[in-house]
Amino acid sequence: MLSDVTDLLACPQCASAVELETDGGAKVLVCVLGHRFDVARQGYVSLVSGAPSKFEGDTSDMLEARARFLDAGHYDPLVSAVAAVVDRDDHSGQGPRVLEVGAGTGHYLAGVLDRSAGSRGVGLDVSKYAARRIAKSHPRVGAVVADAWAGLPLRDRAMTDVLCVFAPRNAGESHRVLAPGGRLTVLTPTGRHLSELIDAFGMVNVDERKVERLDAATAEHFAPAQRTDVEFSMTLTHADVVRVVGMGPTARHLGPDALSAKVAELPQPATVTASVTVSTYERH
Ligand SMILES: C[S@@+](CC[C@H](N)C(=O)[O-])C[C@H]1O[C@@H](n2cnc3c(N)ncnc32)[C@H](O)[C@@H]1O
Ligand SMILES: [Zn+2]
Repeated sequence: MLSDVTDLLACPQCASAVELETDGGAKVLVCVLGHRFDVARQGYVSLVSGAPSKFEGDTSDMLEARARFLDAGHYDPLVSAVAAVVDRDDHSGQGPRVLEVGAGTGHYLAGVLDRSAGSRGVGLDVSKYAARRIAKSHPRVGAVVADAWAGLPLRDRAMTDVLCVFAPRNAGESHRVLAPGGRLTVLTPTGRHLSELIDAFGMVNVDERKVERLDAATAEHFAPAQRTDVEFSMTLTHADVVRVVGMGPTARHLGPDALSAKVAELPQPATVTASVTVSTYERH
């Protein structure tokens, strides 16, 4: 719940601390200078200031497809790989404080918190449909709508971990919100990820040099700490394939009829490769 992480959040207008208040039955986050942010009845808060973000974020349909695909467990090894990074010796005595940027349904963040005693998490996404799901994903998660490129509405050095799973990463802001010794963990697809579907559906191909570009983009603030490749085969029904395509942008370009026609051409079940790199960086 938001009340579990309020001490970690910052006002997007003045960067000062915020407190959760009750105002005639409604909840509101208020900073020391008096800037106010209503908590939605679904439990999330929008910490945005100024003009609306130009990033729309994922739609309700994409999130529904993502939730169903992830809940079926197809990406469980990826959740375990991210959780293994967070579950390390904690000398602060305060427990892990985990921010997931572009958290989507909150599936990864919830999985990480489940495996890490005394942890709590902030799930941030630019999509309010995502924030609604994140708010329900785990009892120790607070959900925030914000544009990662406009700055992260978190206190300086508040977090032990920042996670970016198939999502945008803002290295400078991640550095600012991480405590000394904190870690940025980024999950990126390799060129083999979903390769059996890439050609069939005209899905966006991965830039093979993504990991090198990631190292360059983080070098000013972080040192590479660990890199693990995770690759496995998934056995997918046609319904699973519709969901894994539907949770990305391809389905929007293709349209439902073309998607169904192409899925019908695949064997059932279809064997599809999942292949990612988990890169962990330590804060300078
Ligand atoms: C490919 S999805 C990944 C979601 C989740 N991490 C997962 O793997 O299931 C990317 C997510 O990033 C969010 N997103 C896109 N641009 C963003 C931005 N500028 N700031 C915050 N979130 C953003 C989208 O709304 C979407 O939920
Ligand atoms: Zn303020």
